Amino acid sequence: MTTIAAQPHSGEAVDAGRRETLTVIDNRTGKSYELPISEGTIRGLDLRQIKREEEDFGLMAYDPGYANVAACKSAITYLDGDRGILQYRGYPIEQLAERSTFLEVAYLLIHGELPGRAELEAWSHEVTIHTFVHENVKGFMQGFRHDAHPMGMLLGAVGALSTFYPDAKAIDDPEVRYLQTIRLIAKMPTLAAFAFRHSRGQPYVYPDNELSYPGNFLSMMYKMSELRYEPDPRLERALDVLFILHADHEQNCSTSAVRGVGSSRVDPYSAIAGGIAALYGPLHGGANEAVLRMLARIERKENIPDFLKGVEEGKERLMGFGHRVYRNYDPRAKIIKRAAEDVFEVTGARNPRLDIALELERIALEDEYFISRKLYPNVDFYSGLIYESLGLPVEMFPVMFAIGRTAGWVANWLEQVGDHEQRIARPRQIYTGARDRDYVPIEERP
Ligand code: CMC
Repeated sequence: MTTIAAQPHSGEAVDAGRRETLTVIDNRTGKSYELPISEGTIRGLDLRQIKREEEDFGLMAYDPGYANVAACKSAITYLDGDRGILQYRGYPIEQLAERSTFLEVAYLLIHGELPGRAELEAWSHEVTIHTFVHENVKGFMQGFRHDAHPMGMLLGAVGALSTFYPDAKAIDDPEVRYLQTIRLIAKMPTLAAFAFRHSRGQPYVYPDNELSYPGNFLSMMYKMSELRYEPDPRLERALDVLFILHADHEQNCSTSAVRGVGSSRVDPYSAIAGGIAALYGPLHGGANEAVLRMLARIERKENIPDFLKGVEEGKERLMGFGHRVYRNYDPRAKIIKRAAEDVFEVTGARNPRLDIALELERIALEDEYFISRKLYPNVDFYSGLIYESLGLPVEMFPVMFAIGRTAGWVANWLEQVGDHEQRIARPRQIYTGARDRDYVPIEERP
């Protein structure tokens, strides 16, 4: 970065020529600074030299929610929110949802390329043989209260895995990293299904390694006394598509949490437990749960106008609508809407809440409030309806999200560990509190 000679502020545009730089004039001092632009960004630290007085700290950017800060470089997921484009490693989400499988997509996210036949077989085999968990994991999961939220159970269980695999701390060893990658993708459905069975008071079902990734998950969820659970291939496929759609989404709240926690160079189980905690919240992975509760509250189509009035008056939020990045239709919502119809075909009854959702979407998309704010349905608007039709209670919805997203979390964690530009995440603050006060003994306080 170069500091151009200090100039008085003339109010005229500075001729920056055709250089890939940004010229900033500090009107407090009249000084001008030339900051390099690279890949559409300036370096945050380049602002630091902009000071009123020599001893000043220097300028910072204030950006709550990191709405315009790139915290990393990533080659995993491309997202163009204005045009509704989502690509994993360059492949459009629509093609992957139509033609790939979740395990192949997980391979793609982790390795950067689609696998050859032998590679896919080896990858699927490795994931499959790591689906079992240590018996003590089962033991401590049984210790949760009967009504424990399955997402809280998953969060605790994944964090606890770090104690079962202390070798995972050696994050600089690529073989160790690879083993944890496989373990995380393989064990997440097992832990998720155990949490579900726990909430039902049913015995946990061990993995069936003869089944596909989603088929085994369905078996661990629903198998009762039959010798072998036979998943319906259409449900298996719908679930696989849901996992694909949720597999990654760039630097969302939970992935940033994984990167933030991981930046301390902790083991990946602890980092991913951080991601699960972030995903638990109602504005993120908890949104599909919130959508269902909202649809239940609306109850009937006739109540929609009143509900939307409340939204416009700021009393409510239309859950499943809006997105920080998409200012156009969420491409995942389109695919999921179709998958919902497929699932209803298998499960027989059309979910009555789908009609409320469709009507809500129709009215909202014609409403000035939503149009002017570019609020469209997001992936969570319909996913909850599918989960409900699969017989899942709302508490399981964010857990389902977590199974798919594990592939993206791990891919981002791997990328971060190998990125030498990364440092421990440590944002700054604008301090607004009191200063330089003297301690007052309690008896002297007013
Ligand atoms: N219902 C009503 N108004 C909304 C909504 C909504 N769902 N979303 C945004 N707005 C309004 C908001 O009140 C604000 O209005 P104004 O300018 O008058 O103050 C404007 O739109 C901009 O909203 P924002 O809160 O600044 O947007 P954001 O980018 O900070 O928030 C969001 C993004 C996803 C948190 C938000 O849209 C939201 O709360 N949606 C509902 C929850 C939801 O569906 N979350 C799932 C996200 S997709 C899956 C995932 O990634 O987890």
